[in-house]
Amino acid sequence: MGMSNIGGKNSIICDLRSDTFTSPDEGMRRAMAEAIVGDDVYGEDPTVNSLENRLAEMLGKEGAIFFPSGTQSNLSALMAHCGRGDEIIVGKNYHVNWDEASGASVLAGISLWPVQTQEDGSISPETILESIKEDDAHFARSRLLSLENTVGGKAIPIETIRKSAQTAWNSNLSVHLDGARFFNAVSELECTPKELADCADSVSVCLSKGLGTPVGTVLVGSEKFIYSARRNRKILGGSMRQVGIIAAAGHYALENNISRLSEDHKRASEFASALRSLNAGIVETGTNMVFFTPNDNETNELRSYMEKQGVKIGDQSPSIRMVLHRDITDQGMELAINGFKNFYQNG
Ligand SMILES: Cc1ncc(COP(=O)(O)O)c(C=O)c1O
Repeated sequence: MGMSNIGGKNSIICDLRSDTFTSPDEGMRRAMAEAIVGDDVYGEDPTVNSLENRLAEMLGKEGAIFFPSGTQSNLSALMAHCGRGDEIIVGKNYHVNWDEASGASVLAGISLWPVQTQEDGSISPETILESIKEDDAHFARSRLLSLENTVGGKAIPIETIRKSAQTAWNSNLSVHLDGARFFNAVSELECTPKELADCADSVSVCLSKGLGTPVGTVLVGSEKFIYSARRNRKILGGSMRQVGIIAAAGHYALENNISRLSEDHKRASEFASALRSLNAGIVETGTNMVFFTPNDNETNELRSYMEKQGVKIGDQSPSIRMVLHRDITDQGMELAINGFKNFYQNG
């Protein structure tokens, strides 16, 4: 399926770089067009209010707040949990540490303490305990454990993530969960949203990835925490006005797109099997993601060959990320598999 836009047709017909490439479908666009709106800065947008209430209820927390992005939601959460001179224990490879331009340090005087994660993407209780600093004038104050699920496509099991959280709670730290792909984890773990959300004090849930909205993340937590996050959103310039137009896409996504995430997971695993059969490199997969590390290290050649076939793959090296999502058609999938076959078998 081509992505049409005002500028004309896009020749890429299978964009595997990320599930952020999902575009709103007709039903979602209709829901957006028909949204009842108000001024959300005054708390008067009914569609935003009902979306916030809906997610708070689903995840079993007291309150929620709508954000334009996952990055701003995470940062507002970190700022609500921590003050200047406080420190966050976070996975080295987690988005909060690696991909958010150190916003917590730059804007809020919070330090990040990046730690090595386990094979399954989790942070072990031992690592947490050895990272917590004593109360000493020389040290930053250990204040928060920042977790992520899914991590690199892997869904960390509930028991594992609960152990990490409990270790932090026992040491009087709070726990934040970056759930950019929260519902992919819920779907894979076959748990309820509340069971996963119970493993953290606050959870950030992106609607703009596999769930397919153009914009939007919802942060949930206690009433007091959300009050503070609302102030932080204002500080960061993220308060929006008639944003029910976008929140309506969120409602639509929750109704229509959660249940189909398991299809993405199934197709990712089928795609991984097809790649494995080529014996051309190491293939790893989890939920909707596939990582391919070619034996020959010719990632650039592979990438430009695939692009000529109308298939975009991740720009990482040596391990290339490919993400399955609702805008990948069967035809696109076939094109991708044939592209790999031709590159390695006939190239
Ligand atoms: C794990 C994770 N957290 C947070 C984000 C940030 O979301 P956004 O791009 O909406 O700022 C992303 C985006 O890809 C992500 O993958």
